[in-house]
Amino acid sequence: MVNSLDQFISLKEFEPAARTVLPHPVYEYIAGGAGDEITLRENESAFDRIRLWPRVLRNVRTVDPGVSLFGVRFRSPIILAPVAYQKMMHPLGELASVRGAGRAGVPFVVSTNTTTLFEDLAAAATQPLWFQLYFQRERAETKALIQRVEAAGCQGVCVTVDTPVLGTRVRQFRAGFQLPFEMDTPHNQRGGGARGNSDLDRHTPIEWSDIEWLRSVVHSKLWLKGVLHPEDAEQAIRLGVDGIMVSNHGARNLDTTVATIDVLPSICRQVSGRVPVIVDGGIRRGADIVKALARGAAAVMIGRPYVYALAVDGEDGVARSVELLERDFRYAMALVGHASVETLDRTLEWPGENEDA
Ligand SMILES: Cc1cc2nc3c(=O)[nH]c(=O)nc-3n(C[C@H](O)[C@H](O)[C@H](O)COP(=O)(O)O)c2cc1C
Repeated sequence: MVNSLDQFISLKEFEPAARTVLPHPVYEYIAGGAGDEITLRENESAFDRIRLWPRVLRNVRTVDPGVSLFGVRFRSPIILAPVAYQKMMHPLGELASVRGAGRAGVPFVVSTNTTTLFEDLAAAATQPLWFQLYFQRERAETKALIQRVEAAGCQGVCVTVDTPVLGTRVRQFRAGFQLPFEMDTPHNQRGGGARGNSDLDRHTPIEWSDIEWLRSVVHSKLWLKGVLHPEDAEQAIRLGVDGIMVSNHGARNLDTTVATIDVLPSICRQVSGRVPVIVDGGIRRGADIVKALARGAAAVMIGRPYVYALAVDGEDGVARSVELLERDFRYAMALVGHASVETLDRTLEWPGENEDA
């Protein structure tokens, strides 16, 4: 609990504050990436390298940061990414996050490794709730899980496709991060790999045929989370997926993979508006969201920043972190001369046409 959240002016400031309140292994679990953390740094520095090229004297008296997804208007392009084990970050865990998301007016994606029942989160949610899916051992279990969350009001299933095994998360392993035995992951009996340091293979590897099957089981919107290649995006669309999430899992799986903002244009070019594309990884300021939307994303997700805020001050922290980012985004839009997200495009980048894949 902090005295006043007013002391936080930018999203990045929650990290050092969280570090002082979190047990060391939990902080390392959140902050760390895979291997030498080259991609972890790159996710942010790739945003830093993009220079904005603003226009002036346009009417930006009223800036609307809202976006539309499947015809539904959202107040901002910000979504809270699925993050596991949130009761390790705050006693109320995911419940505090979903309440904070509600106050800030943004959707919340519940991890399969949630430490709170989906139904309890649905009861507290005032904004759309999505579910991030890790396949269970048997298809029947996976189907039952989907039916359960959809019955509770889940509006979208994001199947994570970038984690056939966990990455070599050096800092997390070194710090001895483990899920305490009294802490349950009620929707994943396998504990998601945090029940022991050396156990790297608790995930169920999946293939395209599983996505085909999943399409027949998911009745809400189906997103593929963890796409980095245009051909994979194409295959997903062929199988009837509703949306693509460009993600490298917050650089937690395979080190030296490409930064998500760098690969986004090639995927958006391939997708060419057939389905919405969401990007995550390294988004820390309003200008990053401007860049992501200018490169074709329909929305963005943040992971680490909001769970640092959760650790610092629970529901209030989460709400404050999103509000700060949304405000920074509105300012950035005004400062580049755009009143609406629909007009953001790559003429905002210096030089106008960057070289990218
Ligand atoms: C502590 C932590 C736990 C995560 N747990 C999950 C998870 O259970 N499922 C999943 O698909 N992604 C998970 N992710 C990845 C996030 O959903 C997201 O892709 C990533 O955090 C975005 O990058 P950012 O942290 O730089 O914003 C996790 C990320 C972190 C930091």
